[in-house]
Amino acid sequence: MRSLFLAALLTISSLSASAAQPLYLDESQPDDVRIEDALSRMTLNEKIALVHAQSKFSTPGCPRLGIPELWMSDGPHGVRMEFAWDDWQHAGWSNDSCTALPALTCLAASFNPDLAADYGMTVGQEARFRKKDVMLGPGVNIYRTPLSGRNFEYMGEDPYLASAMVAPYIKSLQSNGVAACLKHYALNNQEHDRDNINVDVDERALNEIYLPAFKAGVDAGVWAVMGSYNKYRGTHCTHNDTLVNKILKGYWGFDGVMITDWGSAHDTDEAARNGLDLEMGSWTNGLTEGRALAYDSYFMAEPLKKKIKDGEIPESLLDEKVRRVLRLNLRTNMNRNRPFGTMHTPEHLATALQVAQEGIVLLKNKKNFLPLEPGKCSVAVIGENAVKKLSIGGGSSELKPRVEISPLDGIRSIYGDDVEFSLGYASGEPNYSFELPSPYDADSLFNAAVELARRSDAVFFVGGLNKNFTQDCEGDDRRYFNLPFGQDALIEAIVAANPNVAVIITSGNGVEMPWLNKVPAVVQSWYLGSMGGQALAQVLSGDVCPSGKLPFSICTSLEDYPAHQGGARTYPGENGTVHYDEGIFVGYRWHDTKRKPALFAFGHGLSYTDFKYGKLQSDRKKYAPGDTISLSIEVANTGICDGAETVQFYVGQEHPALPRPVKELKGFCKKKVTKGDKAVFTAEIPVASLAYFDPEIMDWRLDNDIFTISAASASDDVRSQIKINVQQPLITSK
Ligand code: BGC
Repeated sequence: MRSLFLAALLTISSLSASAAQPLYLDESQPDDVRIEDALSRMTLNEKIALVHAQSKFSTPGCPRLGIPELWMSDGPHGVRMEFAWDDWQHAGWSNDSCTALPALTCLAASFNPDLAADYGMTVGQEARFRKKDVMLGPGVNIYRTPLSGRNFEYMGEDPYLASAMVAPYIKSLQSNGVAACLKHYALNNQEHDRDNINVDVDERALNEIYLPAFKAGVDAGVWAVMGSYNKYRGTHCTHNDTLVNKILKGYWGFDGVMITDWGSAHDTDEAARNGLDLEMGSWTNGLTEGRALAYDSYFMAEPLKKKIKDGEIPESLLDEKVRRVLRLNLRTNMNRNRPFGTMHTPEHLATALQVAQEGIVLLKNKKNFLPLEPGKCSVAVIGENAVKKLSIGGGSSELKPRVEISPLDGIRSIYGDDVEFSLGYASGEPNYSFELPSPYDADSLFNAAVELARRSDAVFFVGGLNKNFTQDCEGDDRRYFNLPFGQDALIEAIVAANPNVAVIITSGNGVEMPWLNKVPAVVQSWYLGSMGGQALAQVLSGDVCPSGKLPFSICTSLEDYPAHQGGARTYPGENGTVHYDEGIFVGYRWHDTKRKPALFAFGHGLSYTDFKYGKLQSDRKKYAPGDTISLSIEVANTGICDGAETVQFYVGQEHPALPRPVKELKGFCKKKVTKGDKAVFTAEIPVASLAYFDPEIMDWRLDNDIFTISAASASDDVRSQIKINVQQPLITSK
């Protein structure tokens, strides 16, 4: 009797619980219904709270309705350590480490979109485990000048490459119920004067070069986008009507949340009207100054509330922002089915290792100096970057990796513990707003290193830039193109003492190499994350055959870069504006078209084996605009070991109505080919992707014309070409 009564009671209470369940919590309802229901229950104060920060990295949600806080973290190479609630002090937790992935330049150099998916999965799983809802990354700003302090966080100079890599990153990250926040929208191509600089760029360059990777992220379904600090046409990009309302949310149909960079909002009206949805980090100027607990005075806090109450700004604008934030909640922390995440798994370390192995670029290798077989001769390691922790520093992308194998450790694990080391030069500790001096005596370091080189058979010089302010670090740009801390003179002296030197450049930027002709081997080794030292040693010793390709061109001197043709006008800007006078001719597009070859071209990267290309073939010769061009080419590994090659497919138009680059990357295919074997490399290129942006009609245009398609091992190393015909002109929609 008693149990019957209890059962009845339970049925009644569960019925009333489900009947009482508000629509916004009912997962069987469509998102729009849930969002409208939540919105209809919220007071003005609650709505205002949803569109600005409550702490450095969180927003409050709506506690009364049980809508959770949103927790964010940088990004983009792993999950950053925790911070204090309201200042930029590290919180000092002991459970806030991560797997450090190689920097995005390295990922781009791998030319491997499957790896980009593994990368995004690693970041997403660790973000979820660390209870993050939004990861602040990845970044896809185009590499315009080698001085830019943030190039290491981006994916190089080519919009097609960056697009191809960013989409899988975003999709697999977000499959964890964690939002990616694509940044920095848009035109953050320099860090110098980043809060104020106004970018003057023509419509073609904007649409053909600087926006496509952002559009690719939106097409991949990204849930959040971060506005950049700089201005476009005089208005800050974060609340720029053209960029946000018209292009991002209008043409591209972005349905996610437009978030400020930390402190990139400047005006309540612009923020309210020009598409900004969520304000973070105001009054903190990035990292160097701040006002305590300033959240209520944010542009989208009390000032916005007042303007709404005074009738100056319609509440409907706020409602639209709240809808987007609520949609983000539904996609992330209100999705009861999202995975729990994992941390520090063997798979995460394996991904970090593989990205490093595939991203390292062998720039020069005279007389097969590399690989250097272990045990055959005495090897010395010289250079600070062989031991410096390089996952820390650089600004917001800093990480606290649980594991970080240094180049010296990696090299000793393969070449033996008796490998001698000398620092050679030294920099100061990382700092975000000024340069700290090194505590060591430069002459003693220099002399000891040269002495070690003299008595060794071979030298691995591990130098480059680091993550200190004015190196590869946000907040400002590099001041010089050459290597810092006296490394050029040191390399010269080492080579004079011992010519058997491989120079390993750790950086996210190209550097000047005045000693290039004197050294037999140069390796571009990026910031390689947790497993970097192991990957580097594997490449140096031949355990791994290098397969990375440069995601940007490296020039002999700064004056050879298109962005540095116009003096201060084109970099770093004059009277507050930087003019992108080179237009669409960025990187290899410039070097090819002006016939001024780079020192190391985009797409360049040597291997320990050789690849012999067959003849490029297309499925047809004539195409209509809606068609896809199917390309294939056989490549044979005719060299001494197994290795991977990336065939790059470039397309150029014969008689364009407007000037176009000689060729542009439209596809690529990376494959491993065993020694003595061959493989067919393929690409599917939509004919519509051969269009250019016509500023006359403000739309994409494809001409009836002949196009040359090249299969290339680098942008300056074309191996086979064919011509195809596109038959009807087409104007696509934006
Ligand atoms: C950076 C962003 C970063 C944010 C939060 C800013 O200084 O520009 O990329 O996500 O700080 O740390």
